[in-house]
Amino acid sequence: MSHVHVTRRYRFCAAHRLHTDLLSPEENWAAFGKCNNPNGHGHNYVVLVTIRSGAAQGTSALDRLDHIVSEKIVERFDHRDLNGDPAFAALTTTGENLVKVIWDILEPFLPAGSLYKVGVIETRDNYFEYAGAA
Ligand code: NI
Repeated sequence: MSHVHVTRRYRFCAAHRLHTDLLSPEENWAAFGKCNNPNGHGHNYVVLVTIRSGAAQGTSALDRLDHIVSEKIVERFDHRDLNGDPAFAALTTTGENLVKVIWDILEPFLPAGSLYKVGVIETRDNYFEYAGAA
């Protein structure tokens, strides 16, 4: 059993605002601070997708991964407002939620069991990762 993994890096730029209708304006501000600014703000997101190497033998598997991530993630989110995406209709657009949304989008399109981990770099100092439900 191989324990080698391969990670590919992808990028998209998107706007978001941390806000939930479940809280009052004051409570939103207390929870999210400047990230609750009504005008929103943007990030240059970096997405790291790690697959088990057995699923990545040869470049064609990585080409397929690139194609899937480009079509399902980059084209969907690049230069968009994450708050307007249906995946966030009932979720705030935190890095924690984004990394899980990306996992849930990609997982069904990849060979069963091949997706190992998804990472999202949101800012210089904020990194989120998810490896599926335990
Ligand atoms: Ni932000």
